[in-house]
Formats: sequence, structure tokens, C-alpha cells
Amino acid sequence: MNFDFTNRKVLVGGATDGIGWSSAKLFAANGAELILLGRNDKKLAKRASELSSIRSNKIRTLNIDFTKPEELEDKLSQFLLSQRLDIDVVVNNTGGPPSGRLDIASTSELISAFNMHLISYHKILGVVSKGMKERSFGRIINVISTSVKQPLNGLGVSNTVRGAVANWAKTLSNELGEYNITVNNVLPGATNTGRLNEIIRNKAQKQAIGEQLVKDGMASEVPMKRIAEPEEVAYAILFLASEYANYINGINLPVDGGRTKSL
Ligand SMILES: NC(=O)c1ccc[n+]([C@@H]2O[C@H](COP(=O)([O-])OP(=O)(O)OC[C@H]3O[C@@H](n4cnc5c(N)ncnc54)[C@H](OP(=O)(O)O)[C@@H]3O)[C@@H](O)[C@H]2O)c1
Repeated sequence: MNFDFTNRKVLVGGATDGIGWSSAKLFAANGAELILLGRNDKKLAKRASELSSIRSNKIRTLNIDFTKPEELEDKLSQFLLSQRLDIDVVVNNTGGPPSGRLDIASTSELISAFNMHLISYHKILGVVSKGMKERSFGRIINVISTSVKQPLNGLGVSNTVRGAVANWAKTLSNELGEYNITVNNVLPGATNTGRLNEIIRNKAQKQAIGEQLVKDGMASEVPMKRIAEPEEVAYAILFLASEYANYINGINLPVDGGRTKSL
């Protein structure tokens, strides 16, 4: 299987670290033009220069905060207009909500998580979907979590918003399929990124045990007895964006080493 994203314009959220960064590297290596989103200009510039050295595709960056959907919508639409850019592929991805129980979570935590995930993704859709429909091509891939299938303990707000994003995506896949726009979700399990390290640190503090013990415990719950590397999730994203997945629409694809206990 050879991926070829030549002439494809790919928008990657949370592109400076973790799963987003791994996806950006793979898209760049396979010929895509990229628009990297993140909140830190320095990090964005560094990542853009790293990608240019992989392959000399056009790499653009845009400083966008997913907790501010209205601002995101304005900035993104103005940017695409000024650059005369049409987006072919969107990777909806950003940082995860803070961990904690749901019963004691505040409504502001819930609102913030919904803004960061569901509402921002919907704003991005509003900016790109008209062009996708006109050109009869679009690939929307949402990086969610296995909690779509099985809620995870201690990630109450996250579980709640993930379910909403998955249902949003499934509904869109019904509505947009006739325009040759597919909408699919990738559900990472425990993956070796900054986000996972933060979750491990919190658990270790709460349980007053070492971080390595928490990490080993996580790995032991996976049939493959290890945590994923972010590239392993990124390959699933690339596949769903590629021509090999032209007829795949409306699915949830776990990349979790078999950890999820449902069919
Ligand atoms: N890693 C796992 O084990 C795992 C498992 C299941 C689900 N997930 C989910 O997968 C997604 C990606 O996770 P990851 O592990 O790749 O995370 P990560 O390594 O922490 O990277 C998060 C990325 O999102 C950006 N970001 C964070 N907050 C943002 C905001 N408010 N606005 C714009 N960009 C923001 C960060 O860039 P800047 O800080 O530079 O802005 C960074 O590039 C998250 O939703 C996470 O919950 C992860």
C-alpha cells in the first residue's frame, strides 16, 4: 500500500505534539500540503521547519485555540480566504479534557470540553464543508478515544464529550456521504504522548505510587501488553484519509491493541 497525498491539502489540529504531530509527519512524507494548527507560534514554526526537511511540500501554520470556537472560525475562514486554499482532509484533533470523576465535575469543565471538541469541530466543518461539497471530495477524521465504546474510569468529562463527538460524526457521515465526503473516527487507546504522561502523573499522585507502576498497569490491561506509539495511531488516520478507504464511512476505528472489551 503506497499512500499518495500529492495535491491534497490537509488541515491537522493539535499538530505540534503527540498523535497530531505524528500524523503531520506521515502526511508530509506522503506528499500532502499541510496546515498545522496549534497555540504556540514558536512550536508551530519549529514543526514546520522539521517537516520541510522531510519533504519540500508547502507547510503553513495557524495559531488557533480550540477552547475559543468563535475566534477559531474567524481566523480559519480568513486564513483560507487569504491563502486561496480549499481543504481536502481535516484531522480534528486537540488536547484532551482534564481527568477526574464526572459527578463532581463543574458545568464550566463540561462547557469547556464541549467547546474544545464538539463546537470547534463543528466550526471547522462550517468553514470547509461548502468547498468540499462543491468539489465532491472530503475526508474528515476525528481523533476521539476508545471511551466512545467503553467509558474510562476517572475521565468523566472526557467520556461525555467523546460520545457526543462520535454521534455528531455518525450523523454527518449520513448527511455528507452523497457528496463523497466521508466522516470517520479513530479511537486511540493508551498512546505514548504528553497527554498520556499527564494522565499517568495524576494517577500516580492520587494512588501515591510510582509513575512506572501506573504505566506498567496500563500496559498489562492491553492484550498486546504494551502502550501504542503515536505513529501507530497516525497510520490509521492516513489510511482513512487515503484512496484505500474511499468506501469507508461512519466508522469508529479503535487503535488500542485490543483493550476495548466490546465488539
Ligand atoms: N495519548 C493517549 O493515550 C490518548 C488516548 C485516547 C485519546 N487520546 C486523545 O487524542 C487526542 C490527542 O492526544 P495526544 O495524546 O496526541 O495529546 P498531546 O500529545 O497532549 O498533544 C495535544 C496537541 O493538541 C494541541 N492542543 C492542546 N490544547 C489545545 C487547544 N486548546 N487548542 C489548540 N490546540 C491544542 C497541543 O499543541 P499546543 O500545546 O502547542 O497548542 C498538541 O499539539 C486528545 O483528544 C486525547 O485526549 C489520547
